[in-house]
Amino acid sequence: MDTEFHTEIQSAADIVTARQRGRALALEIGFTGVDVTLVAAAISEIARNIVDHAKKGEIVLKHLNNVSPNGKHGIQIVARDEGPGIRDVSKAMQYGYSTRKGLGVGLPGAKWLMDEFEIDSEIGKGTTVTMKKWLR
Ligand SMILES: Nc1ncnc2c1ncn2[C@@H]1O[C@H](COP(=O)(O)OP(=O)(O)OP(=O)(O)O)[C@@H](O)[C@H]1O
Ligand SMILES: [Mg+2]
Repeated sequence: MDTEFHTEIQSAADIVTARQRGRALALEIGFTGVDVTLVAAAISEIARNIVDHAKKGEIVLKHLNNVSPNGKHGIQIVARDEGPGIRDVSKAMQYGYSTRKGLGVGLPGAKWLMDEFEIDSEIGKGTTVTMKKWLR
């Protein structure tokens, strides 16, 4: 089962949709309790960054199914946009850094909530954030 679930993101309602789909998939994969909430919170932050900083984009959710070498399960969340990009990714990853009078906790918070976190961003081209959380 390698289905990907795509959610277009351009409004507050879309953020809620992505968050709900993330919860549902996390439960289906076998996450429980607080972990389901952590996954949903990370999706919210990253989706909100699309709306706040890039206007529109998409969230793609995927079940990481029986991944080698040891057959782990998890959830992958990819957030993609073709917005302005991030000039200094290492600055953007610091707590309190915001170009837009935000708290600047979205990216570092999402990283903290997940097990793996990667940003690929290019000025004028857009931003892709890839996050994974493994089932314990
Ligand atoms: N998808 C994106 N496209 C362009 N820039 C982004 C994107 N996501 C984050 N950024 C940049 O990285 C900075 C830090 O993001 P972060 O989510 O940590 O803080 P914030 O969105 O400014 O505030 P908060 O999330 O706390 O409300 C942003 O201010 C913005 O400059
Ligand atoms: Mg943010």
